[in-house]
Amino acid sequence: MKTSSLTLGLLAAVATADPTPTEQEPPSKRSSLPTVTASGNAFWAGSDRFYVRGVDYQPGGSSAMTDPLADETTCQRDIAEFKTLGINTVRVYMVDNSVSHDTCMQALSDAGIYLILDVNNPLYSINRAQPAESYNDVYLQSVFATIDAFRSYDNTLAFFSGNEVVNDQTNTTLAAPYVKATTRDMRQYITQRGYRAIPVGYSAADVSQNRYQLAEYFNCGTDDERSDFFAFNDYSWCNTDFETSGWDQKVQNFTGYGLPLFLSEYGCTTNGRSFGEVGALMSSNMTSVYSGGLVYEYSVEDGNENYGLVTIVGSSSVSTKSDFSAYSTALSKYPAPTGDGGFTSTTNSVTCPSPDSNWLVSNTLLPAIPTAALKYMTDGAGTGPGLTGDGSQNAGGTSTGDAEPGSGSATTTATPSSTGKKNIGTRPAPMDTAGFAVMGVVLVATFVGTLLL
Ligand SMILES: *[C@@H]1O[C@H](CO)[C@@H](O)[C@H](O)[C@H]1NC(C)=O
Ligand SMILES: *[C@@H]1O[C@H](CO)[C@@H](O)[C@H](O)[C@H]1NC(C)=O
Ligand SMILES: *[C@@H]1O[C@H](CO)[C@@H](O)[C@H](O)[C@H]1NC(C)=O
Repeated sequence: MKTSSLTLGLLAAVATADPTPTEQEPPSKRSSLPTVTASGNAFWAGSDRFYVRGVDYQPGGSSAMTDPLADETTCQRDIAEFKTLGINTVRVYMVDNSVSHDTCMQALSDAGIYLILDVNNPLYSINRAQPAESYNDVYLQSVFATIDAFRSYDNTLAFFSGNEVVNDQTNTTLAAPYVKATTRDMRQYITQRGYRAIPVGYSAADVSQNRYQLAEYFNCGTDDERSDFFAFNDYSWCNTDFETSGWDQKVQNFTGYGLPLFLSEYGCTTNGRSFGEVGALMSSNMTSVYSGGLVYEYSVEDGNENYGLVTIVGSSSVSTKSDFSAYSTALSKYPAPTGDGGFTSTTNSVTCPSPDSNWLVSNTLLPAIPTAALKYMTDGAGTGPGLTGDGSQNAGGTSTGDAEPGSGSATTTATPSSTGKKNIGTRPAPMDTAGFAVMGVVLVATFVGTLLL
């Protein structure tokens, strides 16, 4: 929520391992959860509609450079609380991609909990003030290494390619092409490496003047350029109701959007919190357009006391606040609905937003992947730099031009465009274990324009 633009820019000396061949999925060691796929405008766990019913998990706070999934003692402490709460998903804002997460990920799986993971951290991220410089091969190596570190866990639900990179300063919209390029590169990396199709999308700040433009932007263009889902933060409920909060409009305005959608942070603290949001999210008012959300946040942090559900007391204990029982009560009162929730079985792209006083991006072409990062598509990313590396924001080779649309599809690579020739790629078909039709179809003509602005 309060993650600031991080401008640490140090030279990086990232060691990459020898080329490694694409690996087959290892057999699961223990019983595991069904993997989650994005299909149509919804998520699916096996053949069942899946709703995110979770919390944002950053013990230590948004400014701590810590990986909550690398510390067995504290993750076990908190997973016990997650079970009491009754959640099915946690979002983690940063991890150390150089260490193992086997123990905490298995413990989450044993508790029936999925992970939505941000692939960035303050040292390795797009800098919203210098997006072109920070979109470089050293950055992408870290991002890809994070994918490698989590792609084998069946309970890895999704990756966030960026978090609130665009904020309420209009000129930060100029960073959007670099986040969208990163999203494209991540999706290409996952496909090219033969990994499970873990969904990739962006988490937008609660900023009304560019929310719809961002949503459109991440779902416009050729299939290789589009996200697998979109998420945004929303603090507008404030213990009111579906209409007073304006959530009815947020359903209307996103009807026909064409991708799965969920709230990456919610839980306004004004007027107290009884989490009526859960009732709305799980009701037929919303399930045709939204797939749940994540309450901000699990633990109280310094300087931002109001949001935590628990206060961390020590490495093995927490004390729960009244918000903890309120959220737990709401989750049991409003279970995930059965059935398909009225989802839309196809995905569709929308038209890219036009530049205006709130949206400064005028070029619909994306930057090409930095040439030095191309080798990761075939060789793998190698060892990740972790959270103590030299950082990427002013390191490495940057993009040298616009990408040809379609060039980020798995069989080709995103090389700079010289001809402007349109080479429409094929969206990788979702893994479809249900009986419904494969949703790779792009119904531009039918749905463009139904995202009302
Ligand atoms: C946006 O404007 C701010 C304040 O004027 C400035 O500091 C920043 O560098 C600008 N960012 C970009 C990406 O131009
Ligand atoms: C569903 O929408 C109706 C009409 O806007 C509203 O009266 C009702 O409270 C909503 N239900 C929930 C659970 O929010
Ligand atoms: C939904 O769209 C309408 C019409 O374009 C707009 O006036 C309104 O502000 C939007 N609602 C929300 C909650 O953003």
